[in-house]
Amino acid sequence: MRAIGRLLPFVRPALSRIVLGMVAALFAGIVALLIPQVLRALVDGPLSDGDASAVWIAFVVVLALGIGEAVMIALRRWFVLTPGTHVEAAMRNRLYAHLQNLPVAFHDRWPSGQLLSRAVSDLNLIRRWLSFGLVLLVVNLVTIVVGIGFLVSISPLLGLVFVVLSVPVAMISFAFEKRYHVVARRSQDQQGDLATAVEESVHGIRVLKAFGRGKHALASFARQAEELRGTEIEKARAVANLWLWLLLVPDVTWAICLLIGVLQASAGQLTIGELTAFFATATVLRFPVESIGFLLSMTFDTRTAVDRLFEVLDEPDTIVEPDDPQTIAEPHGRLAFRGVHFRYPDAPAGTRDLVDGVDLDIRAGETMALVGLTGSGKSTLTALTTRLYEVTGGSIEIDGVDIRRLRRHELRARIAMAFEDATLFSASVRENVLLGRPEGSPADVDEALDIAQASFARELPQGLDTIIGEEGLSLSGGQRQRLALARAVAARPDILVLDDPLSALDVDTEALVEEALRRVLTTTTALIVAHRPSTVALADRVAVLRDGRIVAVGPHSELIATNEHYRFVISSLEAERGDAREEVVR
Ligand SMILES: Nc1ncnc2c1ncn2[C@@H]1O[C@H](COP(=O)(O)OP(=O)(O)O)[C@@H](O)[C@H]1O
Ligand SMILES: [Mg+2]
Repeated sequence: MRAIGRLLPFVRPALSRIVLGMVAALFAGIVALLIPQVLRALVDGPLSDGDASAVWIAFVVVLALGIGEAVMIALRRWFVLTPGTHVEAAMRNRLYAHLQNLPVAFHDRWPSGQLLSRAVSDLNLIRRWLSFGLVLLVVNLVTIVVGIGFLVSISPLLGLVFVVLSVPVAMISFAFEKRYHVVARRSQDQQGDLATAVEESVHGIRVLKAFGRGKHALASFARQAEELRGTEIEKARAVANLWLWLLLVPDVTWAICLLIGVLQASAGQLTIGELTAFFATATVLRFPVESIGFLLSMTFDTRTAVDRLFEVLDEPDTIVEPDDPQTIAEPHGRLAFRGVHFRYPDAPAGTRDLVDGVDLDIRAGETMALVGLTGSGKSTLTALTTRLYEVTGGSIEIDGVDIRRLRRHELRARIAMAFEDATLFSASVRENVLLGRPEGSPADVDEALDIAQASFARELPQGLDTIIGEEGLSLSGGQRQRLALARAVAARPDILVLDDPLSALDVDTEALVEEALRRVLTTTTALIVAHRPSTVALADRVAVLRDGRIVAVGPHSELIATNEHYRFVISSLEAERGDAREEVVR
């Protein structure tokens, strides 16, 4: 009931049709139960008097009832078929929208396959239950109750026997529910894990092949698949067990009723017509009673699916919109960190914050390089500026306004980011470049491609309409980075945040990109994570990040002269660079 309650907001638009479907199904059930009553009247009335002509009347009545039942069943299907699909689509869109909103920290925790299996199979299950399971469950239960009423009215004793022997069925079903729920949940979770495994190995197929880990990956996949198989068998066993009882108990009931009924009839306590009607009614009830087990297991699966779905939908969107949003009246593009603290939620307790009180002022139009050892938190610090993660202390300000006071879309229009691992989407080059500025003109695309030295894109098979990304043409790491850079530039932000965007470029291209970037950087504020001395050279000032703090800020030449840690970082960067060059030469 709780799960149904949670579904209600989504189901509401479809509710009227589902209810109409139930009403139609109820009519079908009642009509089916009326046929034995006609038989009873026929057998006890005209037939016992030897009046065969009444058979024709009864025939017409039964035929009419039969047609009525068929029409009602058709109506039920027609009513309930479409609304379920609408509900499924609405819930799927809602899930997708929620996933888009959830903070990156959520996605750090949740494997993609678990989200995939929720978006596909769990929602599919919910739709089938809504348009089929729910309706039949309600209708069959009502049919059983009404049918038992008829049975009792025909013969109180036989009716009582029928009811008493039905109790074990209910009890078995109930006991089944408890066990089944656990296994069903495990099965659905394992399906999610399996989807994750497939997704990961498809993504990492090159690495797996290159390291000859195919066999190993297969073995681990096979193990997971085998686990799922075991769970499915366990589920099937539980269902088979249930079915055994659901079939056996009614058969025993049937036999006992037949014995008592024939004895009663021969003693004159029951007419032949009543005996006929009793068994005809019991026959009608057979399908509803048998189906209860199946419908219950489907209902429990659905409950699990609803639980799994709401585990995601209930995740709070912690990066909230401000209550009283501010706007930046005159954007200059000043970016300031004021006592910023941050730690990842899974950081061990008792350790210092990863970002441990960062104070940094980046003036309007200035280019600031951020330098620090690997793992010092540079990428994390840049991610804080667009609220991909939320600061855990202090604040970040753009033109004096706390970024938490800005609407998210305004914030993300003011700042554009390029990441080290350049993710492109399955779309044309043009769409990828204009991701942050869909209304941009062809001239904007051209300019961005020029700056990022990405004119190779014009020579692709279909030019800028070539589909790239996961399902499109494969590009080299350097090409991807240049497109990602073009994307950031095309967004025309006040502030450009580049997380080591040139790392995959060869020396010559890097020099070209830097040259072109220099022009852009005169018009925007920029924070650039630099892993290379030549990138540092682009900057007006350099900030040195160490142990979660900015330990020095100043022009490169000054820092080289005064700051030992800076000299150490730069020399280690140069050493890395030298290694890379040597490898190329070799
Ligand atoms: N999503 C994450 N969840 C938990 N820890 C993370 C996450 N991303 C990075 N870290 C940790 O934070 C530290 C700093 O990472 P990062 O900001 O990427 O450093 P840098 O870019 O300076 O090399 C590392 O120790 C890393 O393991
Ligand atoms: Mg990094």
